[in-house]
Amino acid sequence: MLSLITAPISHAVAAFVGVPAAQVAGLYAAPAKGFAADLALPCFQLAKAKGMAPPALATALVPVVSALPGVTAVAAGPFLNLTLAPTAVATALLPGLTDGRAAVRSTAGAGKKVCVDFSSPNIAKHLAFHHIRSTMIGNALAHCYQAAGWQVTRINFLGDWGTAFGRLIAGWKREGLTLEQLRAAPDQVTFLNDLYVRISKAAKEDAQVEEEARRWSKALEDGDTEARGLWQIFKDASLGEFQRIYALLGVTFDSWKGEAHYEDKMGPLLTELAAKGLLKEDQGATVVDLPTLAGKQFKKPALIKRADGGTLYATRDLTACDDRFAEFAFDRSLYVVDLGQSLHFQEWFAVAKLLGRPFADRLRHVGFGVVLMWNDEPGEGLEPGWAKGRTRAGKTMLLREVLEEAIDRAATVMAEKNPDITGEERARIARAVGVGAVVFNDLKNSRSNDVKFKFEDALNMQGETGPYLQFAHARLCSIERKFAEAHPNAGAGDPALLATEHEKTVLLALARLQAALEKAVDTDEPGALATGLLALAAAIAAWLTSGNGDVEARVLCSDATLAAARLRLVRAAREALGEGLRLLGLIAPERM
Ligand code: ARG
Repeated sequence: MLSLITAPISHAVAAFVGVPAAQVAGLYAAPAKGFAADLALPCFQLAKAKGMAPPALATALVPVVSALPGVTAVAAGPFLNLTLAPTAVATALLPGLTDGRAAVRSTAGAGKKVCVDFSSPNIAKHLAFHHIRSTMIGNALAHCYQAAGWQVTRINFLGDWGTAFGRLIAGWKREGLTLEQLRAAPDQVTFLNDLYVRISKAAKEDAQVEEEARRWSKALEDGDTEARGLWQIFKDASLGEFQRIYALLGVTFDSWKGEAHYEDKMGPLLTELAAKGLLKEDQGATVVDLPTLAGKQFKKPALIKRADGGTLYATRDLTACDDRFAEFAFDRSLYVVDLGQSLHFQEWFAVAKLLGRPFADRLRHVGFGVVLMWNDEPGEGLEPGWAKGRTRAGKTMLLREVLEEAIDRAATVMAEKNPDITGEERARIARAVGVGAVVFNDLKNSRSNDVKFKFEDALNMQGETGPYLQFAHARLCSIERKFAEAHPNAGAGDPALLATEHEKTVLLALARLQAALEKAVDTDEPGALATGLLALAAAIAAWLTSGNGDVEARVLCSDATLAAARLRLVRAAREALGEGLRLLGLIAPERM
Protein backbone atom coordinates (compact mmCIF):
# COMPACT_ATOMS: atom_id res chain seq x y z
CA MET A 1 0.00 0.00 0.00
CA LEU A 2 2.84 2.36 0.82
CA SER A 3 4.04 1.76 -2.74
CA LEU A 4 0.92 3.55 -4.03
CA ILE A 5 2.32 6.66 -2.36
CA THR A 6 5.98 6.13 -3.16
CA ALA A 7 5.61 4.94 -6.77
CA PRO A 8 6.40 8.31 -8.43
CA ILE A 9 9.40 8.78 -6.14
CA SER A 10 10.69 5.27 -6.87
CA HIS A 11 10.41 5.89 -10.60
CA ALA A 12 12.27 9.18 -10.49
CA VAL A 13 15.04 7.76 -8.30
CA ALA A 14 15.32 4.58 -10.39
CA ALA A 15 15.61 6.58 -13.60
CA PHE A 16 18.36 8.74 -12.11
CA VAL A 17 20.34 5.83 -10.69
CA GLY A 18 19.72 3.48 -13.61
CA VAL A 19 18.10 0.54 -11.79
CA PRO A 20 14.57 -0.95 -12.04
CA ALA A 21 11.95 0.89 -9.95
CA ALA A 22 11.18 -2.32 -8.06
CA GLN A 23 14.64 -2.20 -6.57
CA VAL A 24 13.90 1.20 -5.04
CA ALA A 25 10.38 0.29 -3.88
CA GLY A 26 11.55 -2.06 -1.13
CA LEU A 27 14.03 0.35 0.45
CA TYR A 28 11.86 2.90 2.28
CA ALA A 29 12.22 3.05 6.03
CA ALA A 30 11.13 5.22 8.93
CA PRO A 31 13.23 8.38 9.28
CA ALA A 32 15.87 8.34 11.99
CA LYS A 33 14.84 9.67 15.40
CA GLY A 34 14.80 13.45 15.60
CA PHE A 35 14.08 14.00 11.89
CA ALA A 36 10.69 15.43 11.06
CA ALA A 37 9.94 13.52 7.87
CA ASP A 38 7.44 10.89 6.74
CA LEU A 39 9.85 8.43 5.15
CA ALA A 40 13.53 7.91 4.60
CA LEU A 41 15.23 6.38 1.58
CA PRO A 42 18.56 4.80 2.59
CA CYS A 43 20.97 5.36 -0.31
CA PHE A 44 23.63 2.69 0.39
CA GLN A 45 22.58 0.09 -2.21
CA LEU A 46 21.66 2.67 -4.81
CA ALA A 47 24.96 4.50 -4.32
CA LYS A 48 26.81 1.30 -5.06
CA ALA A 49 24.84 0.84 -8.29
CA LYS A 50 25.54 4.42 -9.31
CA GLY A 51 29.20 4.32 -8.26
CA MET A 52 28.85 7.23 -5.84
CA ALA A 53 29.24 7.69 -2.10
CA PRO A 54 25.86 7.38 -0.32
CA PRO A 55 25.80 10.96 1.06
CA ALA A 56 26.71 12.32 -2.37
CA LEU A 57 23.88 10.38 -3.99
CA ALA A 58 21.42 11.56 -1.34
CA THR A 59 22.40 15.16 -2.10
CA ALA A 60 22.18 14.60 -5.85
CA LEU A 61 18.68 13.12 -5.48
CA VAL A 62 17.26 16.16 -3.64
CA PRO A 63 16.41 18.22 -6.75
CA VAL A 64 15.28 15.11 -8.66
CA VAL A 65 12.74 14.12 -6.03
CA SER A 66 11.74 17.63 -4.95
CA ALA A 67 10.66 18.28 -8.54
CA LEU A 68 7.76 15.85 -8.03
CA PRO A 69 4.48 17.43 -6.95
CA GLY A 70 3.76 17.13 -3.21
CA VAL A 71 7.21 15.86 -2.17
CA THR A 72 9.96 17.65 -0.27
CA ALA A 73 13.33 15.91 -0.06
CA VAL A 74 16.22 16.70 2.27
CA ALA A 75 19.55 14.87 2.40
CA ALA A 76 20.62 13.68 5.84
CA GLY A 77 23.97 11.94 5.45
CA PRO A 78 23.39 8.72 3.47
CA PHE A 79 19.60 9.11 3.77
CA LEU A 80 17.10 11.01 1.69
CA ASN A 81 14.36 12.21 4.03
CA LEU A 82 10.98 12.67 2.42
CA THR A 83 8.06 14.81 3.50
CA LEU A 84 4.82 14.39 1.64
CA ALA A 85 1.92 16.76 1.16
CA PRO A 86 -1.26 15.37 2.77
CA THR A 87 -3.19 15.85 -0.46
CA ALA A 88 -0.64 13.84 -2.43
CA VAL A 89 -0.87 10.99 0.08
CA ALA A 90 -4.66 11.03 0.09
CA THR A 91 -5.05 11.05 -3.70
CA ALA A 92 -2.53 8.22 -4.07
CA LEU A 93 -4.01 6.04 -1.33
CA LEU A 94 -7.75 6.51 -0.88
CA PRO A 95 -8.94 5.44 -4.35
CA GLY A 96 -7.38 2.02 -3.60
CA LEU A 97 -9.28 1.83 -0.33
CA THR A 98 -12.91 1.92 -1.40
CA ASP A 99 -12.96 -1.21 0.75
CA GLY A 100 -10.75 -0.33 3.73
CA ARG A 101 -10.08 -4.00 4.40
CA ALA A 102 -7.73 -3.91 1.42
CA ALA A 103 -5.26 -2.14 3.75
CA VAL A 104 -4.79 -5.43 5.60
CA ARG A 105 -4.46 -7.69 2.58
CA SER A 106 -1.46 -8.89 0.65
CA THR A 107 -0.80 -11.26 -2.20
CA ALA A 108 2.64 -12.24 -0.87
CA GLY A 109 1.44 -15.78 -0.12
CA ALA A 110 -0.68 -16.36 -3.22
CA GLY A 111 -0.57 -20.00 -4.31
CA LYS A 112 1.09 -21.15 -1.09
CA LYS A 113 -0.28 -23.46 1.58
CA VAL A 114 0.28 -23.46 5.31
CA CYS A 115 -0.78 -25.79 8.11
CA VAL A 116 -1.20 -24.21 11.54
CA ASP A 117 -1.15 -26.62 14.49
CA PHE A 118 -2.44 -24.65 17.45
CA SER A 119 -4.27 -24.89 20.77
CA SER A 120 -3.94 -28.72 20.72
CA PRO A 121 -4.85 -29.23 24.39
CA ASN A 122 -4.75 -32.50 26.30
CA ILE A 123 -8.18 -33.98 26.87
CA ALA A 124 -9.71 -34.83 30.26
CA LYS A 125 -8.18 -31.63 31.60
CA HIS A 126 -9.49 -28.08 31.65
CA LEU A 127 -8.28 -25.37 29.34
CA ALA A 128 -6.13 -23.41 31.76
CA PHE A 129 -5.48 -19.72 31.28
CA HIS A 130 -2.12 -20.40 29.65
CA HIS A 131 -3.91 -22.15 26.78
CA ILE A 132 -4.93 -18.68 25.60
CA ARG A 133 -1.44 -18.30 24.16
CA SER A 134 -1.28 -21.14 21.65
CA THR A 135 -4.98 -20.75 20.89
CA MET A 136 -4.94 -17.04 20.09
CA ILE A 137 -1.43 -16.74 18.59
CA GLY A 138 -2.32 -19.64 16.30
CA ASN A 139 -5.73 -18.21 15.46
CA ALA A 140 -4.21 -14.80 14.66
CA LEU A 141 -1.50 -16.35 12.49
CA ALA A 142 -4.04 -18.45 10.63
CA HIS A 143 -6.04 -15.27 9.89
CA CYS A 144 -2.94 -13.27 8.95
CA TYR A 145 -1.64 -15.93 6.57
CA GLN A 146 -5.06 -16.08 4.95
CA ALA A 147 -5.17 -12.28 4.57
CA ALA A 148 -1.74 -12.50 2.94
CA GLY A 149 -3.02 -14.89 0.29
CA TRP A 150 -2.03 -18.26 1.78
CA GLN A 151 -4.35 -21.23 1.80
CA VAL A 152 -4.63 -22.16 5.47
CA THR A 153 -5.48 -25.41 7.25
CA ARG A 154 -6.17 -25.01 10.98
CA ILE A 155 -5.31 -28.12 12.95
CA ASN A 156 -6.15 -29.06 16.53
CA PHE A 157 -3.76 -31.91 17.35
CA LEU A 158 -5.63 -33.05 20.45
CA GLY A 159 -3.53 -34.66 23.16
CA ASP A 160 -5.87 -37.63 23.41
CA TRP A 161 -3.37 -40.41 23.91
CA GLY A 162 -1.06 -41.55 26.67
CA THR A 163 -0.87 -43.46 29.94
CA ALA A 164 -3.10 -40.93 31.71
CA PHE A 165 -6.10 -42.55 30.05
CA GLY A 166 -5.23 -46.02 31.29
CA ARG A 167 -5.19 -44.52 34.74
CA LEU A 168 -8.52 -42.78 34.30
CA ILE A 169 -10.12 -46.00 33.10
CA ALA A 170 -8.68 -47.90 36.05
CA GLY A 171 -10.12 -45.30 38.42
CA TRP A 172 -13.49 -45.34 36.67
CA LYS A 173 -13.73 -49.13 36.93
CA ARG A 174 -12.49 -49.25 40.49
CA GLU A 175 -15.09 -46.74 41.67
CA GLY A 176 -17.81 -48.31 39.52
CA LEU A 177 -18.69 -44.98 37.91
CA THR A 178 -21.36 -44.63 35.23
CA LEU A 179 -22.01 -42.44 32.23
CA GLU A 180 -25.11 -41.11 34.03
CA GLN A 181 -22.96 -39.91 36.91
CA LEU A 182 -20.60 -38.16 34.54
CA ARG A 183 -23.44 -36.51 32.64
CA ALA A 184 -25.09 -35.38 35.87
CA ALA A 185 -21.91 -33.68 37.08
CA PRO A 186 -22.11 -29.88 37.08
CA ASP A 187 -18.79 -29.86 35.26
CA GLN A 188 -17.73 -33.03 33.48
CA VAL A 189 -14.08 -32.12 33.08
CA THR A 190 -13.80 -31.35 36.80
CA PHE A 191 -15.41 -34.73 37.45
CA LEU A 192 -12.68 -36.43 35.35
CA ASN A 193 -9.92 -34.32 36.84
CA ASP A 194 -10.96 -35.21 40.38
CA LEU A 195 -11.09 -38.86 39.42
CA TYR A 196 -7.57 -38.59 38.02
CA VAL A 197 -6.28 -37.02 41.22
CA ARG A 198 -7.87 -39.77 43.35
CA ILE A 199 -6.58 -42.65 41.26
CA SER A 200 -3.09 -41.20 40.99
CA LYS A 201 -2.95 -40.94 44.74
CA ALA A 202 -4.23 -44.51 45.12
CA ALA A 203 -1.67 -45.77 42.59
CA LYS A 204 1.14 -44.19 44.55
CA GLU A 205 0.08 -45.98 47.70
CA ASP A 206 -0.90 -49.31 46.19
CA ALA A 207 1.13 -51.20 43.59
CA GLN A 208 -1.97 -53.20 42.68
CA VAL A 209 -3.71 -50.04 41.47
CA GLU A 210 -0.68 -49.02 39.46
CA GLU A 211 -0.72 -52.47 37.85
CA GLU A 212 -4.39 -52.06 36.93
CA ALA A 213 -3.66 -48.71 35.34
CA ARG A 214 -0.88 -50.29 33.27
CA ARG A 215 -3.18 -53.08 32.17
CA TRP A 216 -5.84 -50.60 31.04
CA SER A 217 -3.25 -48.55 29.16
CA LYS A 218 -2.22 -51.69 27.34
CA ALA A 219 -5.85 -52.63 26.68
CA LEU A 220 -6.42 -49.18 25.21
CA GLU A 221 -3.37 -49.49 22.95
CA ASP A 222 -4.55 -52.94 21.85
CA GLY A 223 -7.94 -51.56 20.88
CA ASP A 224 -9.96 -53.29 23.61
CA THR A 225 -13.63 -52.34 23.10
CA GLU A 226 -14.42 -51.41 26.68
CA ALA A 227 -11.25 -49.34 27.06
CA ARG A 228 -11.88 -47.54 23.78
CA GLY A 229 -15.49 -46.91 24.74
CA LEU A 230 -14.52 -45.22 28.00
CA TRP A 231 -11.77 -43.26 26.30
CA GLN A 232 -14.36 -41.97 23.82
CA ILE A 233 -16.61 -40.89 26.68
CA PHE A 234 -13.75 -38.93 28.27
CA LYS A 235 -12.90 -37.37 24.95
CA ASP A 236 -16.47 -36.28 24.22
CA ALA A 237 -16.81 -34.71 27.67
CA SER A 238 -13.63 -32.69 27.09
CA LEU A 239 -14.58 -31.63 23.59
CA GLY A 240 -17.88 -30.30 24.89
CA GLU A 241 -16.04 -27.92 27.18
CA PHE A 242 -13.37 -27.01 24.63
CA GLN A 243 -15.99 -26.15 22.03
CA ARG A 244 -17.82 -23.79 24.37
CA ILE A 245 -14.61 -21.86 25.00
CA TYR A 246 -13.58 -21.87 21.34
CA ALA A 247 -17.03 -20.49 20.48
CA LEU A 248 -16.58 -17.68 23.00
CA LEU A 249 -13.17 -16.92 21.49
CA GLY A 250 -14.44 -17.23 17.91
CA VAL A 251 -11.89 -19.92 17.09
CA THR A 252 -12.49 -22.74 14.61
CA PHE A 253 -10.50 -25.68 13.24
CA ASP A 254 -10.47 -27.57 9.96
CA SER A 255 -8.97 -30.75 11.39
CA TRP A 256 -9.27 -32.41 14.78
CA LYS A 257 -7.03 -35.38 14.12
CA GLY A 258 -5.30 -35.82 17.45
CA GLU A 259 -2.53 -38.06 18.71
CA ALA A 260 -4.81 -41.07 19.02
CA HIS A 261 -5.55 -40.92 15.31
CA TYR A 262 -1.91 -41.76 14.62
CA GLU A 263 -1.56 -44.37 17.33
CA ASP A 264 -1.86 -47.38 15.00
CA LYS A 265 -0.33 -45.72 11.92
CA MET A 266 3.28 -45.57 13.00
CA GLY A 267 4.37 -48.98 11.73
CA PRO A 268 5.54 -47.83 8.29
CA LEU A 269 7.51 -44.96 9.81
CA LEU A 270 9.30 -47.32 12.21
CA THR A 271 10.05 -49.69 9.35
CA GLU A 272 11.44 -46.85 7.26
CA LEU A 273 13.58 -45.55 10.12
CA ALA A 274 14.99 -49.05 10.60
CA ALA A 275 15.57 -49.59 6.85
CA LYS A 276 17.48 -46.33 6.64
CA GLY A 277 19.69 -47.44 9.51
CA LEU A 278 18.60 -44.62 11.77
CA LEU A 279 17.46 -46.68 14.75
CA LYS A 280 19.47 -47.88 17.68
CA GLU A 281 18.66 -49.79 20.86
CA ASP A 282 19.31 -47.83 24.03
CA GLN A 283 18.53 -49.51 27.37
CA GLY A 284 15.69 -51.42 25.76
CA ALA A 285 14.20 -48.35 24.12
CA THR A 286 14.50 -47.48 20.41
CA VAL A 287 16.15 -44.16 19.62
CA VAL A 288 17.65 -42.07 16.85
CA ASP A 289 21.16 -41.18 17.93
CA LEU A 290 21.01 -37.48 17.14
CA PRO A 291 24.39 -36.48 18.64
CA THR A 292 26.09 -38.86 16.20
CA LEU A 293 23.79 -38.45 13.21
CA ALA A 294 22.67 -34.84 13.36
CA GLY A 295 25.39 -32.97 15.22
CA LYS A 296 26.78 -32.03 18.56
CA GLN A 297 24.08 -29.44 19.23
CA PHE A 298 22.07 -32.47 20.32
CA LYS A 299 23.06 -33.76 23.73
CA LYS A 300 20.93 -36.89 23.73
CA PRO A 301 19.18 -39.29 21.37
CA ALA A 302 15.55 -38.83 20.33
CA LEU A 303 13.23 -41.46 21.80
CA ILE A 304 11.15 -43.23 19.19
CA LYS A 305 9.78 -46.23 21.06
CA ARG A 306 9.63 -46.95 24.78
CA ALA A 307 11.18 -50.04 26.33
CA ASP A 308 7.69 -51.56 26.77
CA GLY A 309 6.93 -51.02 23.07
CA GLY A 310 4.68 -47.97 23.58
CA THR A 311 5.15 -45.15 21.12
CA LEU A 312 5.99 -41.59 21.91
CA TYR A 313 4.95 -38.01 21.35
CA ALA A 314 7.77 -37.34 18.87
CA THR A 315 6.91 -40.43 16.84
CA ARG A 316 3.27 -39.37 16.67
CA ASP A 317 4.27 -35.86 15.59
CA LEU A 318 6.42 -37.29 12.78
CA THR A 319 3.65 -39.57 11.57
CA ALA A 320 1.11 -36.74 11.73
CA CYS A 321 3.46 -34.53 9.75
CA ASP A 322 3.80 -37.11 6.96
CA ASP A 323 0.01 -37.34 6.89
CA ARG A 324 -0.37 -33.54 6.69
CA PHE A 325 2.12 -33.29 3.88
CA ALA A 326 0.36 -36.07 1.96
CA GLU A 327 -2.99 -34.36 2.44
CA PHE A 328 -2.13 -30.68 2.08
CA ALA A 329 1.32 -30.49 0.39
CA PHE A 330 2.13 -27.53 2.64
CA ASP A 331 4.77 -24.95 1.84
CA ARG A 332 5.05 -24.15 5.52
CA SER A 333 3.86 -25.89 8.65
CA LEU A 334 3.58 -24.07 11.97
CA TYR A 335 3.57 -25.57 15.45
CA VAL A 336 2.32 -22.96 17.88
CA VAL A 337 3.56 -24.49 21.12
CA ASP A 338 5.22 -23.05 24.22
CA LEU A 339 8.99 -22.61 24.27
CA GLY A 340 9.22 -25.33 26.93
CA GLN A 341 8.80 -27.85 24.09
CA SER A 342 11.60 -26.44 21.91
CA LEU A 343 13.79 -29.50 22.30
CA HIS A 344 10.95 -31.81 21.27
CA PHE A 345 10.54 -29.92 18.00
CA GLN A 346 14.27 -29.60 17.33
CA GLU A 347 14.58 -33.35 17.77
CA TRP A 348 11.84 -34.55 15.51
CA PHE A 349 12.52 -31.86 12.91
CA ALA A 350 16.08 -33.28 12.82
CA VAL A 351 14.74 -36.80 12.41
CA ALA A 352 12.55 -35.59 9.50
CA LYS A 353 15.69 -34.20 7.90
CA LEU A 354 17.59 -37.45 8.42
CA LEU A 355 14.71 -39.24 6.74
CA GLY A 356 15.19 -36.94 3.76
CA ARG A 357 11.69 -35.51 3.97
CA PRO A 358 11.24 -32.80 1.32
CA PHE A 359 9.33 -30.71 3.84
CA ALA A 360 11.93 -30.83 6.62
CA ASP A 361 12.93 -27.21 6.05
CA ARG A 362 9.33 -26.02 5.95
CA LEU A 363 8.61 -26.84 9.59
CA ARG A 364 8.53 -24.01 12.10
CA HIS A 365 8.18 -24.21 15.83
CA VAL A 366 6.40 -20.97 16.74
CA GLY A 367 7.29 -20.81 20.43
CA PHE A 368 6.09 -18.42 23.10
CA GLY A 369 6.69 -17.46 26.73
CA VAL A 370 4.55 -18.15 29.78
CA VAL A 371 1.63 -16.17 31.23
CA LEU A 372 2.16 -14.41 34.51
CA MET A 373 -0.87 -13.32 36.48
CA TRP A 374 -0.97 -10.56 39.01
CA ASN A 375 -1.45 -12.19 42.37
CA ASP A 376 -2.90 -9.67 44.79
CA GLU A 377 -3.61 -12.11 47.64
CA PRO A 378 -0.63 -14.44 47.67
CA GLY A 379 -1.23 -15.56 51.24
CA GLU A 380 0.39 -14.87 54.53
CA GLY A 381 3.90 -13.49 54.62
CA LEU A 382 4.09 -13.11 50.83
CA GLU A 383 4.20 -9.91 48.79
CA PRO A 384 1.76 -9.41 45.93
CA GLY A 385 3.52 -10.14 42.65
CA TRP A 386 3.51 -11.89 39.29
CA ALA A 387 2.87 -15.62 39.43
CA LYS A 388 2.90 -18.24 36.71
CA GLY A 389 -0.68 -19.00 35.72
CA ARG A 390 -1.89 -18.79 39.28
CA THR A 391 -3.69 -16.27 41.30
CA ARG A 392 -5.51 -16.05 44.63
CA ALA A 393 -4.57 -18.87 46.94
CA GLY A 394 -2.21 -20.39 44.40
CA LYS A 395 -5.07 -21.82 42.38
CA THR A 396 -4.54 -22.45 38.67
CA MET A 397 -6.72 -20.04 36.73
CA LEU A 398 -8.94 -21.59 34.11
CA LEU A 399 -9.27 -19.85 30.78
CA ARG A 400 -13.04 -19.80 31.16
CA GLU A 401 -12.80 -18.09 34.54
CA VAL A 402 -10.50 -15.36 33.26
CA LEU A 403 -12.75 -14.69 30.27
CA GLU A 404 -15.85 -14.60 32.44
CA GLU A 405 -14.32 -12.17 34.89
CA ALA A 406 -13.10 -9.91 32.08
CA ILE A 407 -16.60 -9.93 30.56
CA ASP A 408 -18.19 -9.09 33.93
CA ARG A 409 -15.80 -6.23 34.45
CA ALA A 410 -16.45 -4.90 30.95
CA ALA A 411 -20.21 -5.07 31.59
CA THR A 412 -19.81 -3.08 34.82
CA VAL A 413 -17.81 -0.37 33.09
CA MET A 414 -20.39 -0.16 30.31
CA ALA A 415 -23.28 0.11 32.72
CA GLU A 416 -21.55 3.14 34.25
CA LYS A 417 -20.28 4.82 31.12
CA ASN A 418 -22.99 4.02 28.64
CA PRO A 419 -26.24 3.22 30.47
CA ASP A 420 -28.21 3.71 27.23
CA ILE A 421 -26.90 0.39 25.96
CA THR A 422 -28.84 -2.34 27.73
CA GLY A 423 -29.98 -5.93 27.64
CA GLU A 424 -28.67 -8.27 24.98
CA GLU A 425 -26.72 -5.51 23.25
CA ARG A 426 -24.83 -4.69 26.43
CA ALA A 427 -24.10 -8.39 26.98
CA ARG A 428 -22.84 -8.78 23.40
CA ILE A 429 -20.57 -5.74 23.62
CA ALA A 430 -19.28 -6.73 27.06
CA ARG A 431 -18.38 -10.13 25.62
CA ALA A 432 -16.49 -8.55 22.72
CA VAL A 433 -14.66 -6.11 25.00
CA GLY A 434 -13.91 -8.54 27.83
CA VAL A 435 -12.62 -11.26 25.51
CA GLY A 436 -10.87 -8.67 23.32
CA ALA A 437 -9.02 -7.31 26.35
CA VAL A 438 -7.65 -10.73 27.27
CA VAL A 439 -6.77 -11.66 23.69
CA PHE A 440 -5.04 -8.41 22.76
CA ASN A 441 -3.00 -8.45 25.97
CA ASP A 442 -1.68 -11.79 24.82
CA LEU A 443 -0.79 -10.70 21.30
CA LYS A 444 0.59 -7.20 21.58
CA ASN A 445 4.18 -8.10 22.46
CA SER A 446 6.75 -10.32 20.86
CA ARG A 447 5.53 -13.88 21.44
CA SER A 448 8.71 -15.18 23.05
CA ASN A 449 8.30 -12.70 25.90
CA ASP A 450 6.37 -13.78 28.95
CA VAL A 451 2.96 -12.13 29.12
CA LYS A 452 1.87 -10.23 32.20
CA PHE A 453 -1.85 -10.27 32.79
CA LYS A 454 -3.70 -7.94 35.13
CA PHE A 455 -7.40 -7.28 34.58
CA GLU A 456 -7.13 -3.53 35.23
CA ASP A 457 -4.32 -3.15 32.67
CA ALA A 458 -5.84 -5.35 29.98
CA LEU A 459 -9.17 -3.52 30.21
CA ASN A 460 -7.72 -0.02 30.48
CA MET A 461 -9.19 2.16 27.71
CA GLN A 462 -6.23 4.53 27.87
CA GLY A 463 -3.53 1.89 27.53
CA GLU A 464 -2.30 -0.10 24.54
CA THR A 465 -5.22 -2.49 24.86
CA GLY A 466 -7.93 -4.25 22.93
CA PRO A 467 -10.64 -1.99 24.40
CA TYR A 468 -8.64 1.07 23.34
CA LEU A 469 -8.62 -0.17 19.74
CA GLN A 470 -12.26 -1.19 19.92
CA PHE A 471 -13.14 2.26 21.24
CA ALA A 472 -11.35 3.95 18.33
CA HIS A 473 -13.40 1.77 15.99
CA ALA A 474 -16.66 2.59 17.78
CA ARG A 475 -15.83 6.31 17.65
CA LEU A 476 -15.46 6.14 13.86
CA CYS A 477 -18.74 4.22 13.57
CA SER A 478 -20.48 6.91 15.57
CA ILE A 479 -19.19 9.62 13.24
CA GLU A 480 -20.49 7.68 10.25
CA ARG A 481 -23.92 7.42 11.86
CA LYS A 482 -24.03 11.15 12.58
CA PHE A 483 -22.78 12.05 9.13
CA ALA A 484 -25.89 10.75 7.41
CA GLU A 485 -27.96 13.18 9.49
CA ALA A 486 -25.62 16.15 9.18
CA HIS A 487 -25.00 15.98 5.44
CA PRO A 488 -27.65 13.76 3.88
CA ASN A 489 -26.85 14.87 0.32
CA ALA A 490 -23.05 14.87 0.41
CA GLY A 491 -21.24 13.37 -2.59
CA ALA A 492 -18.54 10.71 -2.69
CA GLY A 493 -15.82 12.94 -1.24
CA ASP A 494 -12.70 14.12 -3.02
CA PRO A 495 -9.44 12.87 -1.42
CA ALA A 496 -7.65 15.96 -2.76
CA LEU A 497 -9.43 17.98 -0.07
CA LEU A 498 -7.65 16.19 2.76
CA ALA A 499 -4.96 18.69 3.59
CA THR A 500 -4.11 18.50 7.30
CA GLU A 501 -1.12 16.87 8.99
CA HIS A 502 -3.46 14.86 11.23
CA GLU A 503 -5.19 13.41 8.20
CA LYS A 504 -1.85 12.55 6.65
CA THR A 505 -0.78 10.71 9.78
CA VAL A 506 -3.92 8.56 9.63
CA LEU A 507 -3.35 7.90 5.92
CA LEU A 508 0.26 6.86 6.46
CA ALA A 509 -0.70 4.57 9.34
CA LEU A 510 -3.23 2.94 7.01
CA ALA A 511 -0.64 2.61 4.26
CA ARG A 512 1.77 0.85 6.63
CA LEU A 513 -0.65 -1.88 7.69
CA GLN A 514 0.11 -4.09 4.72
CA ALA A 515 3.81 -4.24 5.59
CA ALA A 516 2.83 -4.94 9.21
CA LEU A 517 0.70 -7.87 8.04
CA GLU A 518 3.52 -9.21 5.87
CA LYS A 519 5.93 -8.92 8.77
CA ALA A 520 3.48 -10.77 11.03
CA VAL A 521 3.48 -13.62 8.51
CA ASP A 522 7.23 -13.62 7.77
CA THR A 523 8.20 -13.68 11.44
CA ASP A 524 5.10 -15.47 12.78
CA GLU A 525 4.55 -12.52 15.09
CA PRO A 526 0.93 -11.32 15.37
CA GLY A 527 2.40 -8.51 17.49
CA ALA A 528 3.64 -6.85 14.29
CA LEU A 529 0.06 -6.30 13.16
CA ALA A 530 -0.99 -5.30 16.70
CA THR A 531 1.68 -2.58 16.66
CA GLY A 532 0.44 -1.30 13.30
CA LEU A 533 -3.13 -1.12 14.60
CA LEU A 534 -2.04 0.76 17.73
CA ALA A 535 -0.27 3.31 15.52
CA LEU A 536 -3.43 3.67 13.43
CA ALA A 537 -5.62 4.11 16.52
CA ALA A 538 -3.25 6.70 17.96
CA ALA A 539 -3.36 8.64 14.68
CA ILE A 540 -7.16 8.43 14.62
CA ALA A 541 -7.39 9.65 18.23
CA ALA A 542 -5.10 12.62 17.53
CA TRP A 543 -7.06 13.50 14.41
CA LEU A 544 -10.47 13.35 16.06
CA THR A 545 -9.25 15.16 19.15
CA SER A 546 -7.91 18.00 16.99
CA GLY A 547 -11.56 18.86 16.33
CA ASN A 548 -12.31 19.42 20.02
CA GLY A 549 -11.46 23.11 20.03
CA ASP A 550 -12.07 23.78 16.35
CA VAL A 551 -15.40 22.97 14.77
CA GLU A 552 -14.04 23.30 11.24
CA ALA A 553 -11.32 20.70 11.92
CA ARG A 554 -13.99 18.12 12.69
CA VAL A 555 -15.09 15.46 10.26
CA LEU A 556 -18.61 16.85 10.55
CA CYS A 557 -17.56 20.39 9.62
CA SER A 558 -19.98 22.82 8.01
CA ASP A 559 -18.61 22.43 4.46
CA ALA A 560 -20.42 19.37 3.12
CA THR A 561 -17.83 18.68 0.40
CA LEU A 562 -14.93 18.73 2.85
CA ALA A 563 -16.93 16.65 5.33
CA ALA A 564 -17.55 14.06 2.63
CA ALA A 565 -13.82 13.82 1.89
CA ARG A 566 -13.08 13.34 5.57
CA LEU A 567 -15.81 10.77 5.86
CA ARG A 568 -14.05 8.74 3.20
CA LEU A 569 -11.02 8.57 5.41
CA VAL A 570 -13.18 7.74 8.43
CA ARG A 571 -14.75 4.84 6.59
CA ALA A 572 -11.46 3.46 5.24
CA ALA A 573 -9.85 3.69 8.68
CA ARG A 574 -12.85 2.09 10.38
CA GLU A 575 -12.92 -0.79 7.92
CA ALA A 576 -9.17 -1.36 8.15
CA LEU A 577 -9.17 -1.21 11.94
CA GLY A 578 -12.16 -3.54 12.22
CA GLU A 579 -10.57 -6.00 9.82
CA GLY A 580 -7.18 -5.80 11.55
CA LEU A 581 -8.87 -6.58 14.86
CA ARG A 582 -10.73 -9.48 13.29
CA LEU A 583 -7.45 -10.92 12.05
CA LEU A 584 -6.11 -10.78 15.60
CA GLY A 585 -9.24 -12.52 16.87
CA LEU A 586 -11.14 -9.53 18.29
CA ILE A 587 -14.66 -8.40 17.51
CA ALA A 588 -15.01 -4.65 16.99
CA PRO A 589 -18.46 -3.47 18.16
CA GLU A 590 -20.12 -0.48 16.51
CA ARG A 591 -20.87 1.19 19.82
CA MET A 592 -19.38 0.88 23.26
N1 ARG B 1 -0.92 -31.57 23.54
C1 ARG B 1 0.36 -30.93 23.70
C2 ARG B 1 0.42 -30.27 25.07
O1 ARG B 1 -0.59 -29.93 25.62
C3 ARG B 1 0.63 -29.88 22.67
C4 ARG B 1 0.63 -30.38 21.26
C5 ARG B 1 1.26 -29.41 20.32
N2 ARG B 1 1.29 -29.84 18.95
C6 ARG B 1 2.09 -30.78 18.45
N3 ARG B 1 1.98 -31.11 17.20
N4 ARG B 1 3.00 -31.38 19.19
O2 ARG B 1 1.50 -30.07 25.57
